[in-house]
Amino acid sequence: MDEALRKKLGINENKPNDWFETLYANSNEGGEGVPWANMAPHPLFENWLAQHPVNVKDKTALVVGCGMGDDAIELESRGFAVTAFDVSESAIDICKKRFPKSTVQFVQADLIAGNKDWWNKFDFVLEIFTIQALPPKYEQTLIQNISDFVADQGQLLVITEIQTNKRTYENGPPWLLNPNYIASFENCGLQLVSSNSYKETEVGEAIHLSIFQKT
Ligand SMILES: C[S@@+](CC[C@H](N)C(=O)[O-])C[C@H]1O[C@@H](n2cnc3c(N)ncnc32)[C@H](O)[C@@H]1O
Repeated sequence: MDEALRKKLGINENKPNDWFETLYANSNEGGEGVPWANMAPHPLFENWLAQHPVNVKDKTALVVGCGMGDDAIELESRGFAVTAFDVSESAIDICKKRFPKSTVQFVQADLIAGNKDWWNKFDFVLEIFTIQALPPKYEQTLIQNISDFVADQGQLLVITEIQTNKRTYENGPPWLLNPNYIASFENCGLQLVSSNSYKETEVGEAIHLSIFQKT
């Protein structure tokens, strides 16, 4: 079943970024054919924002794997100076076309490669479903690179789906995280502030919204 899906999407474990460009290049500003395109911010993220009004004067935010761009626009509307990146150039083109008046810096960049220019730079980093979109062998690299983006005293918000079965390449995509992803972020210099688990998830056993802080 999963092998058939990997074949259909053209997923190669050793070139894990490539199929995203193919997918977005065949899509458009309506998000046709993009399975995760809500065309709106993630509802759990919106709820969290509603409950955590923050003073964002002069604060920067980074959106990891920004997809269609809606979460970045939401952060911009809250006053953050936002950078949002995706590995797919076509996804970035779609974001720029969808939001031509936005001040969000939409840029193509690769989370696996990381970016030293962004180390310790962002007051708020948002990660929704990017880690689970990439094969398990990249997990530690992705978690390290995301952690590196967070400024001292900055926050990281992670939304991810969870399984308790072992993560294996054969069982994805998506490659749902194991609960020990929290310890992995802590090993990268972040402290867990809160983690809420929700049952409403199409795949996996739960969906987590976790907040970390760099101290
Ligand atoms: C499951 S989608 C989630 C998109 C968006 N965060 C959302 O919640 O709608 C994963 C996104 O990560 C992007 N992505 C995959 N590999 C990446 C990488 N190595 N670096 C940056 N973005 C990547 C994909 O192009 C895709 O837009």
